[in-house]
Amino acid sequence: MPTEAKAGTSESQIGVHWREEPLTEPPGSFVSQANMSDPSVFERFSEKNFPKCFEEYADLLTWDSKWHTILDAGNPPFWKWFVGGKLNASYNCVDRHLTSHGSKAALIWVPEPEDEPTRIITYRQLYDRVNEFALLLSEFARLHAGDRVTFHLPMIPELPVSMLAAARLGIIHNQVFGGFSAKACAERMEDSKSTVLVTIDGYYRNGKLIDKKKEADVTVTEAERLGTKVEKVLVWRRFPGQYVSEAPMVKGRDYFVDEAMKPFSGKTIGPVSMDAEAPLFLMYTSGSTGMPKGVQHRTGGYLAYVAGTSKYVQDIHPEDVYWCFADIGWITGHSYIVYGPLALAATSVMYEGVPLYPDAGRPWRIAERLGVNIFHTAPTTIRMLRKAGPDEPSKYTFRFKAMTTVGEPIEPEAWRWFYETVGKKQAVITDTWWQTETGGFMCSTIPALSPMKAGSAGPGMPGIYPIIYDEDGVEVPAGQNRAGNICIRNPWPGIMQTIWGDPDRFVRTYYSKYNRNKESKDWHDWPYFAGDGAVLAADGYFRILGRIDDVIKVAGHRLGTKELENAVLATPEVAEAAAIAMADELRGHVPVIYVALKPGTSSSKELEERIKENVVKELGPVARPRLVHIVPDLPKTRSGKIMRRLLASISDRTDYGDVTTLANPDIVETIRRQVQAE
Ligand code: WTA
Repeated sequence: MPTEAKAGTSESQIGVHWREEPLTEPPGSFVSQANMSDPSVFERFSEKNFPKCFEEYADLLTWDSKWHTILDAGNPPFWKWFVGGKLNASYNCVDRHLTSHGSKAALIWVPEPEDEPTRIITYRQLYDRVNEFALLLSEFARLHAGDRVTFHLPMIPELPVSMLAAARLGIIHNQVFGGFSAKACAERMEDSKSTVLVTIDGYYRNGKLIDKKKEADVTVTEAERLGTKVEKVLVWRRFPGQYVSEAPMVKGRDYFVDEAMKPFSGKTIGPVSMDAEAPLFLMYTSGSTGMPKGVQHRTGGYLAYVAGTSKYVQDIHPEDVYWCFADIGWITGHSYIVYGPLALAATSVMYEGVPLYPDAGRPWRIAERLGVNIFHTAPTTIRMLRKAGPDEPSKYTFRFKAMTTVGEPIEPEAWRWFYETVGKKQAVITDTWWQTETGGFMCSTIPALSPMKAGSAGPGMPGIYPIIYDEDGVEVPAGQNRAGNICIRNPWPGIMQTIWGDPDRFVRTYYSKYNRNKESKDWHDWPYFAGDGAVLAADGYFRILGRIDDVIKVAGHRLGTKELENAVLATPEVAEAAAIAMADELRGHVPVIYVALKPGTSSSKELEERIKENVVKELGPVARPRLVHIVPDLPKTRSGKIMRRLLASISDRTDYGDVTTLANPDIVETIRRQVQAE
């Protein structure tokens, strides 16, 4: 670590350059209607009331039988929540709303082509679809509670239908982000031993109809090569009765969902009462080492946590029209498009396409037409919309009461535009910091109770006690402008259960760094290590600086440098590769690849392009490198570790510091001259 820190910009240095932003009070119109405006919440969720405080969240749900133990911390760090409780997630998000909200819109789906009509799905219709698809999963695909099912679906309403149908039967769903490649999907099927793939024939993205079924065929071949035979491919159709893919349907393997579902039309299947600790879903996410890990979330604790945070941070009331502009293939979509809002009987808006299609006014037209009043999105989307149409929001009459951001740090400049131009100074902003692993928000202001601060995520959520440690496990106190590693001191209901099939990796990745005693049965000895650098201001607000491990965030998507490098090594000429994140005005960061070639091969534009294409083939379009630099050698420490941070500072044109301790210090200047001249 010391050698590395010398060469790159260390977290603490970034912290020093940070200017404190002023506080902004929430508008009175928001405060008067807020779900959480009673400051006693902080007392109720203080450490002396832990873990009992989380019963407040669990009480938002309908339980078939009540838990006997709120938190069982007897086998750290494998916490158990609401032990003995039984419930069904699909029942909680659908069935229980039928009496009061049956004819209300559960989902409003906006297709990307602007002339295609919006689809409204009421809670009653959602109930019908979920039941039919659950019957298909059970009687046709022969799946049972505890089995895994993989979805590779874009932003279509059939995705939440599929998720809720699986949850109805206790089948563990594994949705793979639509922007990941067929190969990435196959790897996730193999890791989760899942033999049923749910996909669609096609969907719109940026004005183009994408052939998704073609990809599914590659997934099946790849999964088989890896050792998992895909028994059934269930294909939803983008347009009823049509087939928009060029790929033939394979007899005995591929089935159109609408046809296979016909026998179940109008029939229902009861929700299976699941143990609170039964896994609800897997979500694969990138980590420091090669293969993404299957983050496993539980039913009871997860659902309670997302319902509670949707209610108190996003301030969702049943009468609100709520739009989380994110992808369901990402944890944000699972927690805050599907499970949280639907548990609260909200109307959740889904949009198929990209923000700028066909122009920068699109999101604001959607908001105006549907009467959206809560808007949740990522800084990368905000930056993109601001750049392409800084004045667009003022042309439309929508009025938001609450806005939230997630996924990356938001620059104060972008924050101010969001606040002034999008929110028209009438909406609160919550900057929510969290992760796939944490299930729901970890740091955020409670909007009616705490002022906003541009660029800061805010304090720990009620019942969440974050802390910053230095490398040696010493607490970095508030107000010193010193950065360190943000951790959470306590367990909470939304925390992942484990990594699917790899409990040791779970302990190693998140708990070994700051564990005080491996034998300890006391949760106080097991802080959760998040992998982010952060600074804590004197007022208790955390500013998140970004990943400190080998994970990079590209337009809010999480990618592993190791995964990228493995994909680059698929090009035969490449001897060694280093993937770095280069700062980018719109996307936050973009992947840039440095490679050294095998002897006897030479660099060319064609080779650079081929490397880029190979990355897309291996990982998917989200991972496409912005640049490939073919250099004579990569800078390394004496122990052979590639100095990625140093390469990142060359790409970012920042000072890379002292490199004299490297094994090959001279190469650094050679690379700098080459790259900065290109
Ligand atoms: C980053 C997304 C700054 C962080 C929910 C974290 C953020 C990673 C914020 C997790 C925020 C998320 N401010 N950075 N408000 N929210 N991050 O698993 O680096 O896709 O570790 O979950 O996103 O990404 P993931």
